[in-house]
Amino acid sequence: MTAITVLFGTETGNSELLAEEITDDAKARGFQAVCHGMDEISIEDFQAVETLLIVCSTWGDGEQPDNAQDLYDTVSELEDAALSGLSFSVLALGDTSFDLFCEAGIQWDDLLESKGATRLADRVDCDVMYEDEAAEWSDGVFDLLGSSQVQ
Ligand SMILES: Cc1cc2nc3c(=O)[nH]c(=O)nc-3n(C[C@H](O)[C@H](O)[C@H](O)COP(=O)(O)O)c2cc1C
Repeated sequence: MTAITVLFGTETGNSELLAEEITDDAKARGFQAVCHGMDEISIEDFQAVETLLIVCSTWGDGEQPDNAQDLYDTVSELEDAALSGLSFSVLALGDTSFDLFCEAGIQWDDLLESKGATRLADRVDCDVMYEDEAAEWSDGVFDLLGSSQVQ
């Protein structure tokens, strides 16, 4: 059975709520799933994850949320192929009225790829009404995981 880790980066809770809903949905579909804030996982545990879903908002002027910055910086310092055993997909929350729309999610997507991880499904960048796009993204990811028998 695929074990999914859902990590959220948030300032005001939207990504957290969404990540928890996605985790519940994953469990209802028969996956093992756990959900953590990005500041609630050690780099050792992060490097042991095999299937990762990231839900991350953008804050400030295209910046990582407070609870995401430290993990982002630590992962940035890993060697280039350090995450070659990881499969991932990113759901980015943002607001198109900002110049750097969904920049934090874009940065995670680029960073994980640069560290050798495999993108399971393309990143989805969501505007303020994110529910439908988020559900479409997670449905797609779960379908892929279910059909590929990822362990
Ligand atoms: C002060 C502030 C700064 C923001 N900066 C950006 C930004 O630079 N780019 C973007 O796409 N969205 C930006 N947003 C929108 C948030 O990413 C969006 O509201 C998101 O749903 C918040 O999710 P969260 O509650 O998980 O933090 C900003 C929102 C606020 C209130």
